[in-house]
Amino acid sequence: MQKFYISTPIYYPSDYLHIGHCYCTIAADTMSRYKRLRGYDVFFLTGTDEHGEKIATKALEVGKSPKEYVDNIVEATKKLWKRLNISYNHYIRTTDEYHERRTAKIFQDLYDTGDIYKGTYEGLYCVSDEAFFTKTQANEKDGKYYCPDCEKELTTKQEECYYLRISKHANWLINYYKENPNFLLPAIRVNEMTNNFLADGLEDLAVSRKGMSWGIPVPFDKEHTIYVWVDALFNYITALGYPEEKDDLYKKFWPCDIHFVGKEIVRFHAIIWPIMLKMLNIELPKKVFGHGWILFDDGKKMSKSRGNVVEPNALIDRYGSDALRYFLMREVTFGLDGHYSQEAFVKRINFDLANDYGNLWYRITSMLEKYFENVLPELHEDIFTERESALKNEMLAMADKFYNELDNLSFGEGLKHVWNVISLTNKYVEESAPWNLAKDESKIKELANVMYIAFQSFYNVTILLQPFLVETSNIVFERLGIDEKNIDLDEAKKWNTLKSKTKIIKGSPLFTRFDIEEELKTNDNNASTSKPSDKKENIKSDNDNNSEITIDDFLKVRIVTAKVITAEKVPETDKLLKMTIDIGSEIRTVVAGIAKSYEPDDMIGKSIIYLSNLKPRKLRGILSTGMVLCACSDDENDTLSCLTTLSDMPTGTIVR
Ligand code: MSP
Repeated sequence: MQKFYISTPIYYPSDYLHIGHCYCTIAADTMSRYKRLRGYDVFFLTGTDEHGEKIATKALEVGKSPKEYVDNIVEATKKLWKRLNISYNHYIRTTDEYHERRTAKIFQDLYDTGDIYKGTYEGLYCVSDEAFFTKTQANEKDGKYYCPDCEKELTTKQEECYYLRISKHANWLINYYKENPNFLLPAIRVNEMTNNFLADGLEDLAVSRKGMSWGIPVPFDKEHTIYVWVDALFNYITALGYPEEKDDLYKKFWPCDIHFVGKEIVRFHAIIWPIMLKMLNIELPKKVFGHGWILFDDGKKMSKSRGNVVEPNALIDRYGSDALRYFLMREVTFGLDGHYSQEAFVKRINFDLANDYGNLWYRITSMLEKYFENVLPELHEDIFTERESALKNEMLAMADKFYNELDNLSFGEGLKHVWNVISLTNKYVEESAPWNLAKDESKIKELANVMYIAFQSFYNVTILLQPFLVETSNIVFERLGIDEKNIDLDEAKKWNTLKSKTKIIKGSPLFTRFDIEEELKTNDNNASTSKPSDKKENIKSDNDNNSEITIDDFLKVRIVTAKVITAEKVPETDKLLKMTIDIGSEIRTVVAGIAKSYEPDDMIGKSIIYLSNLKPRKLRGILSTGMVLCACSDDENDTLSCLTTLSDMPTGTIVR
């Protein structure tokens, strides 16, 4: 069996992840699923890069130990990957004991071969990105230097440290790129690396930090810790067992088939990483692909340090995980920068998923219901016209075109081929006018053909969409009466594979169409927010001095006791309850995210604690005023408990 090893960068758990991080992980997951469904044995690696100054500082700010701090973010990250159906085979944390041990051993090996030596370093350093920059790489303004990636001011740092002798390998690397044109893609990245870093020669790299306790100690000098980037890069081989266990995963999967990385970290993966591997006599990865950034609508990179991020959980709550996966893979050309805007997102859902794909299902299942009582009729190839043959040919040619694009990492182009068949099928149904055929009993076979072909086409299309629409494809297979999941993509090259006489289930619409105006007006769902995730508040500790408020601040908040009069679930959500409540002076409507913990009946008649002067906002089209106060845990089940008073108090009593 052919094998395929793919990795994402390991993310800094310095904050909750945003859709920029989801982008790379979704791409890697789509590719993994694609390969698995083509029969490959896949190893998909992702994880978190947990050491270093940035994390230690963050943890200190909120009064936590670095490990406590990252544990919390890692838990949220894993939950997010689960919601996005990310099918990683292994999740590596650089704080995993095996990684620390193996990294120390590799570092020792490099010292023993003389590739690491002791010296003194002075340079411009970005605390946020954990990286030193030369003056030419940094942005200069009024005599000050700024990070070319996150734009924060650089500090000058001098320290005794260990160096990695990378300087002598610059020419070798330039030649390596030339001899292996597929090693670093897209090709523009080769020019970037050559012109910006290699052409003028490389300086040896400082690979240890003194007096930094949050890291892996240098095995031969415990005052130093290993530079976080070196520690991080080794994850790609320590996860496979290197250097201790080379006979199992490492033997099977190394060299990696492809490292997906963002364009700003290509220099680590296409310069430092290959040089370190060369020093260790390890084969180089087959490919490093530097993708572009998801830019916010103002054209700036979405990033945690800039504080302009879109929170993925809110998007999944509202639009579903398949929609987010589809949007990112379809909208942004892999390798180039792309923009996120809620408008573009909702349009993709409406036009591609709800109209083209979802509506095709709705149309053909409605017709099947009407003309054949939901039962798939037999196919009669003997009476095919040019129209049937043309669609059949397009349908059967689709998979190879799709493979061709996906093999070149052109996700969006691959999807275009599938969408071409979706629109041809829509056109075919339209032109065949089954509503006319149904009026003439002698045309029953023609009518049967239209139905069968439309369903066959929908099935074949859905087979290819499995790597993208993970949840929807399974729903479609189930409705088509197919028990298997994970259908081999080659099945899309076949014809007459649906069993006639199968009862097909129409079900609810596969994708909901949204009112764009409404969606843009209501930022109730945080679908597009230029602020960091609200959840960030959860990691603030009690003794965080910055969070102190004065009594005047507190008195701005009006909290009262209230009584619940009616309660009902908000349709198509699993979290929201709509309630009318009596707050003493008036009756209010409030929508609260408590439906996982309370049934509507549990709430009716209950006395609750209610924040009454919160600005009203729309939730699922309902104007919600104020907020029901609850104690909320951040556990997997989102456990929460509504607040009340220990003894009965009149409705509308002020809480302070
Ligand atoms: N920890 C390092 C990677 C070490 S890999 C051995 C790191 N972490 S990161 O969390 O800052 O970034 C991880 C990845 O997320 C990078 O590839 C980066 O490009 C990507 N993205 C972060 N923001 C992004 C966008 N707005 N758009 C697309 N990808 C972005 O670097």
